[in-house]
Amino acid sequence: MHVRIMLLLMLAMSLAACRDTVEVPEKAVFKEDDLTEDNEPLKIGFAMDTLKEERWLKDRKLFQEAIESHGLEVEIRAANGDDALQIAQAEEMIHQGIDLLVIVPHNAEATAAIVHKAHGAGIKVIAYDRLVKNADIDLYVSFDNERVGELQAEEMLKRVPKGNYVYIGGAPTDNNAHLLKKGVFNVLQPAIDRGDIRIIYDQWTADWAPEAAYAHMSEALNINDNQIDAVIAANDATAGGVVKALTDQGLAGTIPVAGQDAELAAVRRIVEGTQTMTVYKPIQNLSERVAALAIHLAQNNEFKPTVSINNGKSEVPSVLLEPIAVTADNLKEVIIADEFHSEEEVYGKE
Ligand code: GAL
Repeated sequence: MHVRIMLLLMLAMSLAACRDTVEVPEKAVFKEDDLTEDNEPLKIGFAMDTLKEERWLKDRKLFQEAIESHGLEVEIRAANGDDALQIAQAEEMIHQGIDLLVIVPHNAEATAAIVHKAHGAGIKVIAYDRLVKNADIDLYVSFDNERVGELQAEEMLKRVPKGNYVYIGGAPTDNNAHLLKKGVFNVLQPAIDRGDIRIIYDQWTADWAPEAAYAHMSEALNINDNQIDAVIAANDATAGGVVKALTDQGLAGTIPVAGQDAELAAVRRIVEGTQTMTVYKPIQNLSERVAALAIHLAQNNEFKPTVSINNGKSEVPSVLLEPIAVTADNLKEVIIADEFHSEEEVYGKE
């Protein structure tokens, strides 16, 4: 039986099997719908916000590998937190004839303009990790960011059921920062209402900048005479700024600190005891899932997941992956076992 029919059958069977996953054949064999009218392989555009944080370097590498492993092409741009540049980069890729655009928005609102331009050119748009607000985005794939915040707060409440808490938020331009904070307060609010804990400092961190987080934490320590019992930072980059400020006061390792992203520096801080926990988000799963869905939609196939998220304009079809809380207790079986970092990197000398 002809290979192509085999592949189509396999695809149909796997689609029937599980609603929210799409199986792309291991090694894609060119089919009509893998090729554009002029017989070019489909091309996927990836408009990234930044490569500043460690994770985005992984996202870029893994997404490129996932697309190219199916014999398709990928164009990648990173805008270093510059909204105008991100819009210009997306426009350029649209004009270059990409067949689908995947975007990590710097500013959830400003990137709505990119969605309009892409749709104007008949190109579908997938939001990667961060939601685009107020636009008819075709699909959103991320981790459950509210759950990330809940995992952070649950771990901190276990260790500090009573006391003074500091919240160092993420970038207010990033929809994830709002979801994270909502998750944190889903868990903390009852303890706040009981009067067990007090939020004595709460600040967003522009562009997730560690230096800004350091300044916020230094201020929090100063205006509260170091009377702080726990700190929740929206990611590991900002947690690094927090630990630096605690170190200035000789308090590093005495006050529990929560982060997110399982960055190498943060995992090492957990081993040395200056950071308490982080939240691991298996980026391999995210990048492969988005790559498979990008190919599926670029081939003009339908995909209707069971979850949707309202972005202010429409109910956006969404796929949310599960995050995992990591402490010194499960670090080996979660981070090392998944080869996110090596034993040598985490425990050994450089
Ligand atoms: C968020 C992302 C986090 C974090 C942050 C800074 O949107 O979910 O993993 O790293 O951006 O880039």
